[in-house]
Amino acid sequence: MVDLIEKKRDGQELSTEEIKFIINGYTDGSIPDYQVSAFTMAIYFKGMTEKERADLTMAMVESGDQIDLSGIKGIKVDKHSTGGVGDTTTLVLGPLVAALDVPVAKMSGRGLGHTGGTIDKLEAVSGFHVEIKNEEFIELVNKNKIAVIGQSGNLTPADKKLYALRDVTATVDSIPLIASSIMSKKIAAGADAIVLDVKTGAGAFMKTLDDSKELAKAMVRIGNNVGRRTMAVISDMSQPLGFAIGNALEVKEAIDTLKGEGPEDLTELCLTLGSHMVYLAEKAGSLAEARTLLENVIKDGSALEKLKVFLSSQGGDASVVDDPSKMPQAKYTFELEAKEDGYVAEIVADEVGTAAMILGAGRATKESIIDLAVGLVLRKKIGDEVKKGDSLVTIYSNFENVEEVKAKLYESIKISATKVEAPILVHGEITE
Ligand code: URA
Ligand code: CA
Repeated sequence: MVDLIEKKRDGQELSTEEIKFIINGYTDGSIPDYQVSAFTMAIYFKGMTEKERADLTMAMVESGDQIDLSGIKGIKVDKHSTGGVGDTTTLVLGPLVAALDVPVAKMSGRGLGHTGGTIDKLEAVSGFHVEIKNEEFIELVNKNKIAVIGQSGNLTPADKKLYALRDVTATVDSIPLIASSIMSKKIAAGADAIVLDVKTGAGAFMKTLDDSKELAKAMVRIGNNVGRRTMAVISDMSQPLGFAIGNALEVKEAIDTLKGEGPEDLTELCLTLGSHMVYLAEKAGSLAEARTLLENVIKDGSALEKLKVFLSSQGGDASVVDDPSKMPQAKYTFELEAKEDGYVAEIVADEVGTAAMILGAGRATKESIIDLAVGLVLRKKIGDEVKKGDSLVTIYSNFENVEEVKAKLYESIKISATKVEAPILVHGEITE
């Protein structure tokens, strides 16, 4: 291991076997944290070649279980988002592409954050559950083209250990390490093809467009180099996506979007990501054709119908699709009123996310209990004109006192006296 640290420190390329040796030794405990810390720091400064990145990814994939989706007919395309605030795309995209027979075999978690994960959100639909057996999961996807199962098995243990170590050694911020970490998890989950939604802006993991592009390129290269067709869309997270931030609130927003009545930005991003998914799944000959097909399943109601089938096949009350008020409802609503005339210049996404978490929409720690009913609905987005007294945000709360939340929101929403342009939604697409 000392020799390998030295080799990386001096900027030389490690072989496939050398990378496997390190990852296997770290996973089984025979290589200690302090040596791997030095190794990741060497990577931080010296980087990794394209071949090393692919080797590291596959070594992490092979460190644990891999999900076998070979029983599912068709090309399994997974979508991954690098995170953001109020990102309702997964809830929309699942039924949307499944309506075109693209198999959606989603393994999902709960996790920490401003709102719950996809599973938490779906549990706003009474009866819905993800505790299904593997065989049932495969059967459901073959029959309905869509199912969601809770995380199980020992996926990418090497990544779990390495990520935790990086977190305390100032080595999270390394493109080769981030790219291989994310890609290893997607590949272990069994995807044949991967569409990445790399967020950029204040509310994203990557704050600048250059960094986001570099991360996207790194991930696309890894995917294609290990035989999984991969592409990335770089999308804006300088403000939250859509209007709703919360669990039941986002399910309602997804329903609206599948009806063709959703927020413009969320709809557009779902059509963009969805087109790539449909194209990679070979259900359309071009992106333009894919988009038309997606627009058609929204118009003719089949995407909405697919959502109902999906919910009821996993025990959920599908009648919420026609009557979203059957989902948990907050006791109180409050309006955050604009204090002056002007134009919305900034909606700092992660601050708004924190406000939603204070209401109880997300988990601060693993033990926190989520309140599915609460959250925020933005009434204005960047570029919108506002008059003093207009509502900027509706706050859905089960607490009577929301002064802390209001203060946080006032801090994060900036009003400018002069006109502001709405941000570009899609900053680029990276293929090959
Ligand atoms: N997310 C991941 O999964 N891994 C990283 O290294 C960074 C963000
Ligand atoms: Ca949203």
